[in-house]
Amino acid sequence: MRALTWHGPRDVRVETVPDPAVQEPTDAVIRVTSSGLCGSDLHLYEVMAPFMHEGDILGHEPMGVVEEVGEEVTGLRPGDRVVVPFQIACGRCFMCEQGLQTQCETTQVRDRGMGARIFGYTSLYGSVPGAQAEFLRVPHADYGPVRVPDGPPDDRFLYLSDVLSTAWQAVRYAAVPPGGSLAVLGLGPIGDMCCRVARHLGVEQVFGVDPVPARLARAEQHGVEVFRFDDDTVAAIRDRTDGRGPDAVIDAVGMEAHGAPAVRTAQRLAALLPRAAGARLMGTVGMDRLTALYTAIDLVRRGGTVSLSGVYGGAADPLPMLTLFDKQIQVRMGQANVRRWADEILPLLTDDDPLGVDSFATHRLPLDEAPRAYAAFQRKSDGMVKTLFRP
Ligand SMILES: NC(=O)c1ccc[n+]([C@@H]2O[C@H](COP(=O)([O-])OP(=O)(O)OC[C@H]3O[C@@H](n4cnc5c(N)ncnc54)[C@H](O)[C@@H]3O)[C@@H](O)[C@H]2O)c1
Ligand SMILES: [Zn+2]
Ligand SMILES: [Zn+2]
Repeated sequence: MRALTWHGPRDVRVETVPDPAVQEPTDAVIRVTSSGLCGSDLHLYEVMAPFMHEGDILGHEPMGVVEEVGEEVTGLRPGDRVVVPFQIACGRCFMCEQGLQTQCETTQVRDRGMGARIFGYTSLYGSVPGAQAEFLRVPHADYGPVRVPDGPPDDRFLYLSDVLSTAWQAVRYAAVPPGGSLAVLGLGPIGDMCCRVARHLGVEQVFGVDPVPARLARAEQHGVEVFRFDDDTVAAIRDRTDGRGPDAVIDAVGMEAHGAPAVRTAQRLAALLPRAAGARLMGTVGMDRLTALYTAIDLVRRGGTVSLSGVYGGAADPLPMLTLFDKQIQVRMGQANVRRWADEILPLLTDDDPLGVDSFATHRLPLDEAPRAYAAFQRKSDGMVKTLFRP
């Protein structure tokens, strides 16, 4: 089959690789009909290089049609149309039963001290072959894949794999009180969808922040008051909230925030070092560009909540503990527990399309164009916000 493979920092290629097969009785293999390109893939594209291996297949936002199932998979049949959550979970352990599928005790990557395995997401998450490919092996297929009706285009359902669940969890964790306000930092696919979900769930005052004008314009069409990220952003939003700051702030930016040039250099260096040395550096030096997190802590009102969706990867990042403590801030974070939210989200994926998923993608491309798409998405050029590959 054809698949998008990793070869080094900013070097991804579409190659012919062996087809996946059912290996365990609980596996399924799906033929991928659409596969998303995510901000999380950008971290792997360059900064997370110390945790990547030559030939790793990327991608974790698939939907498609079941080709084959193992003998213990009773809930799926060949021909079923499914969306596959980005994490692999068993559905039966202590963690899964509490809706913490990202912590699944059956699939945890214990030798790295990490949570549930994730498709196409580094050795930290099990080096599982990813979904930007023609076919995908899906472990624990009785639990993960969500069956969806035939008929509407893939765009209707694909975002259940990640974007919708991530935004939903970010807004739930933000816990904005009735009549309250929310600021969303970063208006990539995740931040944009956080704004839409927040508006849909009744948050009246939503502020969106990003350095990219086209992304601000896009969010503005969905009832969001937008601010171009600069030194005055915090003061400007405080002004709109009686000087207090919003009740909650979502960080939908993560480790590659604009505005930390020294750490940017260190990240680039770590990516180019031999794997072991790079990984050691990531574990011992403040390795995340923390601009967005610092902004969130500064901006949120006293006693408010910071909800972190953006992914961070450093093990020694400096945090302003005095401010966090003095302002009495709640912080919630983590990878999204996809199946936990799916039943709430699925009823919204109708012709009425309250979240605008049908027109959410800015680019729909054949898989062969993936290397070009990664480069454009990293540069935020070509008006690219969300790309779906059609393998
Ligand atoms: N928690 C989860 O389960 C989960 C799931 C998917 C994605 N993510 C993470 O969410 C983050 C966003 O993903 P995305 O797909 O939207 O990617 P993205 O890279 O397109 O979005 C990041 C946005 O932040 C903006 N930005 C950069 N610096 C900023 C700053 N200082 N202030 C405000 N905005 C700034 C960028 O211009 C960009 O629009 C990534 O870190 C990604 O890894 C987490
Ligand atoms: Zn993703
Ligand atoms: Zn489990």
